[in-house]
Amino acid sequence: MSLQQKAEKNVGWLIVLTFLVVSVGGIVQIVPLFFQTSTTEAVAGLRPHSPLQLVGRDVYVREGCYTCHSQMIRPFRSETERYGHYSVAGEFVFDRPFQWGSKRTGPDLARVGGRYSDDWHRVHLINPRDVVPESIMPGYPWLRDNAVDANSTIRKMLVLRTLGHPYSEEDIRGAQTSVAGKTEMDAVIAYLQSLGTSIKTRR
Ligand code: HEC
Repeated sequence: MSLQQKAEKNVGWLIVLTFLVVSVGGIVQIVPLFFQTSTTEAVAGLRPHSPLQLVGRDVYVREGCYTCHSQMIRPFRSETERYGHYSVAGEFVFDRPFQWGSKRTGPDLARVGGRYSDDWHRVHLINPRDVVPESIMPGYPWLRDNAVDANSTIRKMLVLRTLGHPYSEEDIRGAQTSVAGKTEMDAVIAYLQSLGTSIKTRR
């Protein structure tokens, strides 16, 4: 009887050998990832979110923008022609949690930074129909009225620093003045304008 026939007739051995084979397959795929820095190191030029962008990002999450917008350009021609360079892992090392998503009721926003003026965003966020008549995106007019809270912004930065975001003492001291007098509208726009700008794109 060959080894294979023996194994197939003995359930105990079959389980053990199957487990061994599957483990080897798993190890071969998983272990190299621990040593692959391209997925864990920031791309050149990437900075952690500024205090205002950080607030904007949290507003983005709170308002559920991710339920209609992804932030990940896939490496397909149809995507790169429309949105620019495909997204790479090193662009997201300061995003906790990631806003990649897969639901695209609206366009992908991974490289929307710099595509429109701040004023365009302001009008669009208050009432999208004013700039894109056929838009089905809801308006967010209340963002104009909500002031940004400096103390919670500083606390957020301190927490992120413990997780390895390279905020200097100066960055943290400067947070108070950089968000002073700003609204959540300013914050979301600052965040949107920063998206995808660390990699040079064709658009
Ligand atoms: C119900 C789905 C929906 C939600 C929720 C939503 N959007 Fe949109 N968004 C759209 C659609 C559809 C478009 C395309 C039409 C337009 O430009 O208004 C769009 C367009 C955009 C654009 C322009 C993108 C481009 O490349 O032209 C930006 C920026 C944007 N949305 C930001 C946001 C932000 C920020 C939020 C949360 C505060 C948000 N959206 C919430 C559906 C949505």
